[in-house]
Amino acid sequence: MKFKLAFIGFGVVGQGLAEILLEKDLQKEHDFEYEVVAISDMKLGSIYDPNGLDLQKILDLVDRGEKLDRYPTDKTGWDPIETIKKSNANTIIEVTYTDMKTGGPALEHVKIALSEGKHVVSTNKGPVANEAKELLKLAEKNGVHYRFEGTVLSGTPAINLALLTLAGCEIKEIKGIVNGTTNYILTKMEEGMEYEEALKKAQELGYAEADPTGDVEGIDAQGKIEILSNTVMGADIELEDVSREGITELTLDDIKTAKEEEHRWKLIGSTKKTEDGIEAKVSPEKLPLDHPLASVMGPTNALTFTTDYLSDVTIIGPGAGKKETGFALLVDLLYINNLVG
Ligand code: HSE
Repeated sequence: MKFKLAFIGFGVVGQGLAEILLEKDLQKEHDFEYEVVAISDMKLGSIYDPNGLDLQKILDLVDRGEKLDRYPTDKTGWDPIETIKKSNANTIIEVTYTDMKTGGPALEHVKIALSEGKHVVSTNKGPVANEAKELLKLAEKNGVHYRFEGTVLSGTPAINLALLTLAGCEIKEIKGIVNGTTNYILTKMEEGMEYEEALKKAQELGYAEADPTGDVEGIDAQGKIEILSNTVMGADIELEDVSREGITELTLDDIKTAKEEEHRWKLIGSTKKTEDGIEAKVSPEKLPLDHPLASVMGPTNALTFTTDYLSDVTIIGPGAGKKETGFALLVDLLYINNLVG
């Protein structure tokens, strides 16, 4: 099948995928045939050409700070829903902003796309955190795929690692660092930077959410732990079932004292099977420096999967960033391509 792609949202992550699509010869290397037919973005506007858009021209335009309607095509101005419904796209790349608590407009975008029989690849945590099971059922009913590898650990294998590579192992516990922004802030604070400045830098580098309170108060990590619980551990929990504490109470003094004690503060998320069901939480932990998670610095993330056959399997890699998250969308697209060929 030829993938006709529509981007819903074209911010850092969408542009990251666009750059990757231009860099690689995916047809030659992966038999992946595609064209981008539509882009609809809240800030940049929207364009559609059923015969394909020139992605390089679009990235140049965006780099110059121009709106999408400067691109030479008659079809402009469609909102996300019109784009999903009226365009000839057969695959929707949903990369609008995350609203962890309600799923936000992204939830509707994903529902409509799947109902219209279009594949969806997405790094948006909102819909997965709110309705993963329902959306996967809807995809199955409509004979399409809904993939969301980039919702946890960006392009570093996490969901696919658990579901595909570790298939057949029982995963008893997942524990680690799942938020790049807070890990970056804690790293910078240890170097002596003030909290506010470190947060500003994390925003500039594109690690933080549109509303960074979601990062620093632990809501982003809470959503990721919920996603892992429901999609990998077979649980059926809500966001509020994951107890949560962020890093906003940690001071430079706390971090300095920990260092003197040969310890380091980390925001740790975990989900564990117990006799009473799933126990899931997010909270700062003061780890000894020789703890494997203590050496994970900057926007890097890490997850340890405790399994029956392999005991602990740990993956460490980027947890946020433009190409790092864009790559997760590529993995999802290539996975669908392998299935539907
Ligand atoms: N704001 C998120 C983080 C982005 O810092 O980890 C990746 O989900």
